[in-house]
Amino acid sequence: MNRGYFITFEGPDGAGKSTQIEYLKEYLDQRGLDSVFTREPGGTRISEQIRDMLLDKENTDMSARTEALLYAASRAQLVEKVIQPALDQGKIVVSDRYFDSSIAYQGFGRDLGPKVLQVNKFAVKDLEPDLTFLMMISPDDVRSRLDQENLDRLESEDLEFKKKVLEGFESVAEEFRFRVRVIDATLSKEEIRDKIIQEIEWHFKKRGI
Ligand code: TYD
Repeated sequence: MNRGYFITFEGPDGAGKSTQIEYLKEYLDQRGLDSVFTREPGGTRISEQIRDMLLDKENTDMSARTEALLYAASRAQLVEKVIQPALDQGKIVVSDRYFDSSIAYQGFGRDLGPKVLQVNKFAVKDLEPDLTFLMMISPDDVRSRLDQENLDRLESEDLEFKKKVLEGFESVAEEFRFRVRVIDATLSKEEIRDKIIQEIEWHFKKRGI
């Protein structure tokens, strides 16, 4: 078992992850706990180079499999060079996204299916988070917009993708129930912060942190 503690934040774009990660940093600093914060894709020089490739708007012809493998490669580097060493030193590691994002975006969004998880387990040598906060909005909201609004082709493709990603995150919450805490992203920032800190305090206490 890791000596440290590994926390990840997940959820669709715009669900408020970064604000909560800032709050968590303040909390950990106040408690004087040694922590490392990373973001995905990125977090090492090589991972940032892969990030640039992934987010380059000119790479419109990237195949879904290439995309999935690049996210996994970026993650492999981050785990080996940053996350695992920090955990071995007993630190608390907080990551903005981890392989649950690949399950949701590539596995569900891009229809690559469950093999995405296998590729990722290989990439990270089976390192799973101890605790994951999934900031969720309901896929129903997206579904009703799809049904009701008069959308052009690109808009409806975009919404269809978002809907599949949300369904992917719902499946992550189900499959990894033992570590995933689903947070209603429509609550106020402060309410969410309090829920997260409360949950973390409970787990830290159990672990004697
Ligand atoms: P980023 O600018 O970091 O977005 P955010 O602030 O919402 O995290 O870009 C990350 C994008 O990459 C985001 O749209 C989610 C996507 N992504 C995947 O498709 N698969 C993955 O494995 C990861 C980590 C991210």
